[in-house]
Amino acid sequence: MIKIRDIRKSFGSLEVLRGIDLDVGAGEVISIIGPSGTGKSTFLRCVNYLEEPEEGTIVFDDGKVFDFSQLGGELVYELRSHSSMVFQNFSLFANLTAGENIALHLRKVKKWRGDEVEERVAGLLRTMGLEDKRDNYPRQLSGGQQQRIAIARAMAIEPEIMLFDEPTSSLDPELVKYVLGVIRKLAEGNQTMLIVTHEMKFAQEVSDRVVFMEGGRILEEGDPKDIFERPRHDRIKEFLDLVRES
Ligand SMILES: Nc1ncnc2c1ncn2[C@@H]1O[C@H](COP(=O)(O)OP(=O)(O)O)[C@@H](O)[C@H]1O
Ligand SMILES: [Mg+2]
Repeated sequence: MIKIRDIRKSFGSLEVLRGIDLDVGAGEVISIIGPSGTGKSTFLRCVNYLEEPEEGTIVFDDGKVFDFSQLGGELVYELRSHSSMVFQNFSLFANLTAGENIALHLRKVKKWRGDEVEERVAGLLRTMGLEDKRDNYPRQLSGGQQQRIAIARAMAIEPEIMLFDEPTSSLDPELVKYVLGVIRKLAEGNQTMLIVTHEMKFAQEVSDRVVFMEGGRILEEGDPKDIFERPRHDRIKEFLDLVRES
């Protein structure tokens, strides 16, 4: 069980996260939904310390506690060895090949070296069906291929939790299915995940739990069936009606 407590984050006078508490069970898949601008991305970024929360703690399964109010230096790498993130716009390093993008994380976060790295990279490329793309640069890959490399990079360190921020929002419709399939496989393999997504059907199918965020807080969380079919808050019903219309 990963325990996330009281994450607070402001940008200047704008209070974006107003105290987020979330328990994530081992192997649990949680989808985070909610209107644009409510802090979903900021929340995931805080969990991985890509944003620095003013307050909050995270406790991992191994008992390791990270207090965001006093994090820095080596502790940041240690935190990031527990979690890794997949972004909407892939965020691959343009000047590194696909293989190097995956390897970098292993070297930096896990301090792996040599053959160990090469073998792991080859294995991940095979898993993604991209073994022939190792030496290609991101610009030589389609969006779907880039996102699969980004997922492989995130998987490489065998993180306790994977964080997906709208992983299919930048993809052409025909590529969405493929990438969702990769995430579905991870879920079946009991990878613990937080997924911010607008793919409501996918969220309902793949999640153990759904969290609805609004105004920097969690408004409601529960069983996907309950959230999608009989949410307690009218606000959620309104949101779902809007999303389903589009
Ligand atoms: N780096 C930043 N600097 C200033 N404001 C930011 C920054 N990142 C996000 N915000 C603001 O924080 C709010 C929440 O953004 P975000 O977490 O991206 O929302 P969501 O992912 O739910 O759409 C928005 O009002 C956004 O403009
Ligand atoms: Mg976002």
